[in-house]
Amino acid sequence: MWRGVIEEYRAHLPVTVRTPVVTLLEGGTPLITARFAAPGRRQVWLKCEAGNPTGSFKDRGMTVAVSKAVEAGARGVICASTGNTAASASAYAARAGIPCAVIIPAGGVALGKLVQGAAHAAVIIPVEAGFDAALDLARKAAERFKLALVNSVNPHRLAGQKTAAFEICDVLGRAPEAVAIPVGNAGNITAYWKGFTEYHAARRIAARPRLIGVQAEGASPLVQGRPVEDPQTIASAIRIGRPASWEGAVRAIEESGGEFLSVTDEEILAAQTLLGREGIFVEPASAASVAGVLKLEREGRAPTEVVCILTGHGLKDPAVIENRMRLPAPVKPTLEAIGPRLTFQ
Ligand code: F0G
Repeated sequence: MWRGVIEEYRAHLPVTVRTPVVTLLEGGTPLITARFAAPGRRQVWLKCEAGNPTGSFKDRGMTVAVSKAVEAGARGVICASTGNTAASASAYAARAGIPCAVIIPAGGVALGKLVQGAAHAAVIIPVEAGFDAALDLARKAAERFKLALVNSVNPHRLAGQKTAAFEICDVLGRAPEAVAIPVGNAGNITAYWKGFTEYHAARRIAARPRLIGVQAEGASPLVQGRPVEDPQTIASAIRIGRPASWEGAVRAIEESGGEFLSVTDEEILAAQTLLGREGIFVEPASAASVAGVLKLEREGRAPTEVVCILTGHGLKDPAVIENRMRLPAPVKPTLEAIGPRLTFQ
């Protein structure tokens, strides 16, 4: 049975026998072949991080961050979040039996994620600000109120998240040519690069992949090379103008010979629709990685082999789909009435 990322990758993580392992058996997520890629011409795999306990990749980092917080005797944890970090931090804190506070941009978090935080009994504090200011506040609050900050500025988060890179290499038996990753606060792309670099140094892989960091056009500071004051995108998870792991992300792109690119909200929604039609429902931010690869394809320069990281589940943000969904009017419950609908035309 899969034992969670700390036990599976203990030798690569900052834990000792004295670290109390707080886990929900995260990791071990599916790597699925995408059907949309042209067969024989291109291989696209989807790393489905929705398979984690709270439905996003954050759980990989949170098992390590919360375990280390408990080891250090923290009286509680705090984070700023566009939703997924909050859902994950609150779950792992609840598991550990310690309180969790989450600072969120008012109106900037999708419903499913808010519901998760509430279910895990987090203290939810909406602020009249975007994510960047919320993170500034969380840093100060952690210090003032002696709480462990579990945003990705906490190195234990990145240590846990790098295990996704290990898993990809373990499953393929090598590193892929390229990996496309949605980028918001830029912790995850930094963690992936750390993971590939460590496996390379340990001679587990012969070469490291090229990283493609994908941002939403209206929230693309790393593409523009400067902070964005009032970031805007339908992909609320990555609505971030001042990424905390800026340097780590730039290093990952430079050292891997990759690139940052941006995609429009329309391209994100089209990619989300495409994935839905092959049975994989992701939230908009996650579809950005696929939208990025499709953009490169249109420009005639897509990698022949790429893993797209699908960071979070579609159920977290039902409104995005609901707004475009039109249910037909109810009909009588008879075969005659439903028959016309069953011709599948
Ligand atoms: N995809 C999803 C679904 C996310 O929730 C996030 C970040 C990212 C991608 C980007 O990852 O920040 O490491 O570059 N969500 C954070 C949060 C900001 O608060 O849940 P990143």
